Amino acid sequence: MSRIKDIALAPSGADKIAWVQSYMPILNSIKEEFEETQPFRGMKISMSIHLEAKTAYLAKVLRAGGAEVWVTGCNPLSTQDDVAAALAAEGFEVHATHGVTEEEYSADLVSTLSCKPDLIIDDGGDLISLLHGKCRDLGKNLIGGCEETTTGIHRLLSRERAGLLDYTMIDVNDADCKHLFDNRYGTGQSTLDGIMNATNLIIAGKTVVVAGYGWCGKGLVMRAKGMGAVVVVTEVDPIKAIEAVMDGFTVMPMDEAAKFGDLFVTLTGCADVLVKRHFEVMKDGVLLANSGHFDVEINKPDLASLAVEEWERKPNIRGYRMADGRVLNLLAEGRLVNLAAGNGHPAEIMDMSFGIQAKSLAYLAANGKTLAKKVYAVPAEIDREVADIKLKSMRVSIDKLTPAQEEYLSRVE
Ligand SMILES: NC(=O)c1ccc[n+]([C@@H]2O[C@H](COP(=O)([O-])OP(=O)(O)OC[C@H]3O[C@@H](n4cnc5c(N)ncnc54)[C@H](O)[C@@H]3O)[C@@H](O)[C@H]2O)c1
Repeated sequence: MSRIKDIALAPSGADKIAWVQSYMPILNSIKEEFEETQPFRGMKISMSIHLEAKTAYLAKVLRAGGAEVWVTGCNPLSTQDDVAAALAAEGFEVHATHGVTEEEYSADLVSTLSCKPDLIIDDGGDLISLLHGKCRDLGKNLIGGCEETTTGIHRLLSRERAGLLDYTMIDVNDADCKHLFDNRYGTGQSTLDGIMNATNLIIAGKTVVVAGYGWCGKGLVMRAKGMGAVVVVTEVDPIKAIEAVMDGFTVMPMDEAAKFGDLFVTLTGCADVLVKRHFEVMKDGVLLANSGHFDVEINKPDLASLAVEEWERKPNIRGYRMADGRVLNLLAEGRLVNLAAGNGHPAEIMDMSFGIQAKSLAYLAANGKTLAKKVYAVPAEIDREVADIKLKSMRVSIDKLTPAQEEYLSRVE
């Protein structure tokens, strides 16, 4: 039986799902295909992914392909209770509520695996971690799964390198139609949206310090600059740092940037990017936000240890008063600000990411049993197919290589 907040919230969730559905042409087309081909007939799929409207539509597309789908979130603050209710009202098994404790969050993951899935969708690696540990028994039917995000891929690759990966996984994050658009344009827009939503403050004229110039960081920096911010980048990778400099941004260590930033956003996938020594020198009134997967980038225990007072200033903003009177504001408990204080990525972006998810899962359903227990890239033809549907939906045509051009490009001289 589902564990959700309140089934009476279902109509609001259903409206949200219907809205995004009309901006997700790739999933619409895959749904029609799945209705006919039934790639998941008789299979069970467990999903742990930010539970909001776009994800709910992905669950419906998988069900249209014949699967029984069990759903939970992948972050204690990103579940939208009305969307969870809408799915439960349609007969999906849903275990998720907004604002769960760590214990409830873990229990929901386990409940979602209790169907002994044939396939999984993971976002950040929590399901696969359980399937290697206390839920090993629940993985005995598993053909394989797809991982959605950079942090989950890092965890999978560490496991693979250590010879400890016991399942076949597909790296959805690194498909071109995923990270080039989702991590960059999606995170760029939705992170600012979440920050503006929570604070109702202006971006123009602020010094915005962005930690991490990867795909997510680049997207955020591009948008913050466009809105009139003075952007400073911090990095640990010399090549990314050069890229940031050549893209026109000031690069410096966080120890320096901490002194004059107005808004700090971490998007590194790393821990302890902002710690005690940074909080000690920050200006009064600064905003601290994270858009990386886990809430470890801004060290919350350090922040709390320096505070003489802590209080909820408004939803999604916690004030920490320092002994010298300065107040530092932490947004969304240091969890993904775009999902905890906003609605996540735009539908048109998640359409591409979830198009890759749905097709990769169908590929696993058909071929997974013959694959090794390792991390595979998304097959190039899936990336290409999703790109073709996307272009078509945008009514954009492109040129085609002529046979003579193809011959020229493949000539050996
Ligand atoms: N908010 C969202 O909706 C969303 C969407 C996609 C990905 N993510 C998450 O965002 C994080 C970043 O993803 P990405 O795709 O940009 O990864 P990426 O690997 O492309 O970029 C991360 C960058 O951070 C840099 N970095 C690492 N440690 C650092 C440190 N201590 N200080 C400064 N820079 C540091 C790395 O050198 C790298 O350039 C991951 O946790 C990922 O799972 C979030």
